[in-house]
Amino acid sequence: MTISTGVLPLAAEPSGPLRGRLKPPGDKSISHRAFILGLLCVGRTEIEGLLEGEDVLHTGQACRALGAKIERLGDGRWRVEGVGIGALLPPSDPLDFGNAGTGTRLMMGVVGGHGIKARFDGDASLRKRPMRRVLDPLVQMGAEVLEAAEGGRCPILLKGTPEPLPIEYVTKVASAQIKSAVLLAGLNSPGRTILVEPQASRDHTEKMLAYFGAKIASESFGQGRRIVLDGRPELRPARIVVPADPSSAAFPMVAALIVPGSEIVIEGMMMNALRTGLVQTLREMGGGIEILDRREEGGETVADLCVRASELCGVDVPEERAPSMIDEYPILAVAAAFAKGQTRMRGLSELRVKESDRLAAIAAGLRAAGVQAAVEGDDLIVEGRSEVAGGGCATTHLDHRIAMSFLCLGLAARRKMAIDDARMIATSYPTFLAQMGQLGARFS
Ligand code: S3P
Repeated sequence: MTISTGVLPLAAEPSGPLRGRLKPPGDKSISHRAFILGLLCVGRTEIEGLLEGEDVLHTGQACRALGAKIERLGDGRWRVEGVGIGALLPPSDPLDFGNAGTGTRLMMGVVGGHGIKARFDGDASLRKRPMRRVLDPLVQMGAEVLEAAEGGRCPILLKGTPEPLPIEYVTKVASAQIKSAVLLAGLNSPGRTILVEPQASRDHTEKMLAYFGAKIASESFGQGRRIVLDGRPELRPARIVVPADPSSAAFPMVAALIVPGSEIVIEGMMMNALRTGLVQTLREMGGGIEILDRREEGGETVADLCVRASELCGVDVPEERAPSMIDEYPILAVAAAFAKGQTRMRGLSELRVKESDRLAAIAAGLRAAGVQAAVEGDDLIVEGRSEVAGGGCATTHLDHRIAMSFLCLGLAARRKMAIDDARMIATSYPTFLAQMGQLGARFS
């Protein structure tokens, strides 16, 4: 997948009521893992509903480079023929992950636990992101970092170990990426890998590993979890149905809440409790979100959500909720801009190391739209008003979620809102403009 080199400025116009139904694309976290687990078992894994965004396609390319045969059968339908744990091939070229931090970090776990060398690299945003948080435990397991740019950043040349030491690792930040890298490396360990997280992060790796036949147990304590994985399992290929991504659904959801007169239905959204902090918060703000037809699909609970334009009020979002809505703060901040009173979002230090420094990017974008916003320590404070001026331009810093958030703001502002570059939207939500357009959103 190539990304054009020029930038793509875009604006969202004040739009009439948003109406209709949509099914957001497949979950990005599960889609990355579907390719990776397909690589790690012998035989055919069939995937339905895969997110065909650039991030996931980069992970697919990396899996190919490590020996998997991957074929697209139709829209969202893919087949992976894996090589199995312990049998990965050394890649002949550097692995290019584009904008994808998740693909990079998870694959560092895979390579770190195998006796192969691989070079990891990506775009300018990825090259700024911290990788030591993943490399440190991998080094404890026996991997070696042969080359890295300043501060342990990409490009990185990693030499994995054919016999990862079984370790007990306590993560310092609630991060599913760190947890997953350690567990994926632990798959090729002759012993037991134990991962302790002080605050539970998304659990897709654990659930999918169990579904593929690994022996993995997870127990809760306080806000955290202790996960025990037995190494060298015989993974069985499986059929994966990817549910709609709550982190993508967040954009039409908030747009429908803030554009007067809107009413939409979001179909088949994943309701995993470790991913639904935004729905909880928007409902606390007075958002009219009705949860319909909860059901089980492909091992996850999904539901249809009926969302109606609502008068929102400011709230205090506790730090403990951050892992369950970590990617949703940019769009929550947009909802907060239209709410009555102040919203304080606490404990957001991790936002500084996402695809961009999101704390800074959100505050700057809101100010460009005429909204008062401040960063105090690790908290983001937004002073909401029922009328948002718009009329400015948000700088996106190669960050898809900043781009989509400020386009949503423009749909409900008094004047159109521009973004400097819409290209990165294709990393996670390639059908965003088309789906929003079908609901009645106007872009220019
Ligand atoms: C992800 C975990 C989160 C999230 C990212 C996807 C994953 O990162 O921000 O978009 O699929 O594991 P952290 O675990 O580093 O918070």
